[in-house]
Amino acid sequence: RSHNSKPKVLSQKDIPGLAKYIKSNDCKNIVLMIGAGVSTSAGIPDFRSPETGLYSNLARLNLPHPEAVFEIGFFRRNPVPFYTLAHELYPGKFRPTPTHSFIRLLSEKSLLHTCFTQNIDTLERRAGVPGDKIIEAHGSFATQRCIDCKRSFDDAKMKEHILAKKIARCERCNGYVKPDIVFFGEQLPDNFLSSISNMLEADLLIIMGTSLTVQPFASLADMVKDTCPRVLINIDRVGNLGSMPDDVVLLGKCDEIVRDLCKELGWEEDLDRLWSET
Ligand code: APR
Repeated sequence: RSHNSKPKVLSQKDIPGLAKYIKSNDCKNIVLMIGAGVSTSAGIPDFRSPETGLYSNLARLNLPHPEAVFEIGFFRRNPVPFYTLAHELYPGKFRPTPTHSFIRLLSEKSLLHTCFTQNIDTLERRAGVPGDKIIEAHGSFATQRCIDCKRSFDDAKMKEHILAKKIARCERCNGYVKPDIVFFGEQLPDNFLSSISNMLEADLLIIMGTSLTVQPFASLADMVKDTCPRVLINIDRVGNLGSMPDDVVLLGKCDEIVRDLCKELGWEEDLDRLWSET
């Protein structure tokens, strides 16, 4: 990102300025980057918040270190911790949040270009965000396969196994079956890699509920044009947000900030309508 960007009307905490920009003709393609922080108010813990984060609560699964739950080497030796977590996180038990409904609202206003999500809870889809706008960068529970021979495993049978806390094994080679969730060290899905260039079409980047600690996802934040303002909506400051002249940093709970922004946009009724439908 070169520094010859023309200074934007936006400044650090400027919700009115942000709303004005979103309504202007300059803003047609909004790209989102979201993480576990957008689902905490749905009851799904994030990973790294102190006390409440999953990584400080997995100790009961006696892991060598918290991230082991998403490491293929550990899974191969002991799939029980992951299957225990999968049982707790399995899609279907949780309701989308107002922040998920805001993403759908952007799509209804024909402003949503792409929603890059790190989450595996499928709440974006469940909130009614069109599937062709969602890039699940860290995969999802939608499909699964044997970690040894890669043979795909039946969806319904996998759901049964996870809900019954049973380890699914490949019918051909007896290897462990793992949902197509991206484990540390695994390749991200093809549609993520082929969508990275979408960042260049963004007129506005909104980053919500993520610590921006995991690569290559976090590096998307530095791929937008220098004329594209970046907005962080997060409890704490993360990454290099705030370092560019047109960065907007809105610290706090995303549901509250999203509501304030929708008030400024005159979209509060729309937001409530969509959320009431979830
Ligand atoms: N509103 C705004 N921000 C929030 C909220 C909330 N209600 N709740 C939590 N946050 C913030 C936290 O302060 C933190 O900065 O969201 C961020 C969540 O960060 P992480 O727990 O690290 O989650 P995430 O960034 O999605 O993790 C990325 O790590 O373990 C891997 O694959 C896993 O996709 C995950 C990746």
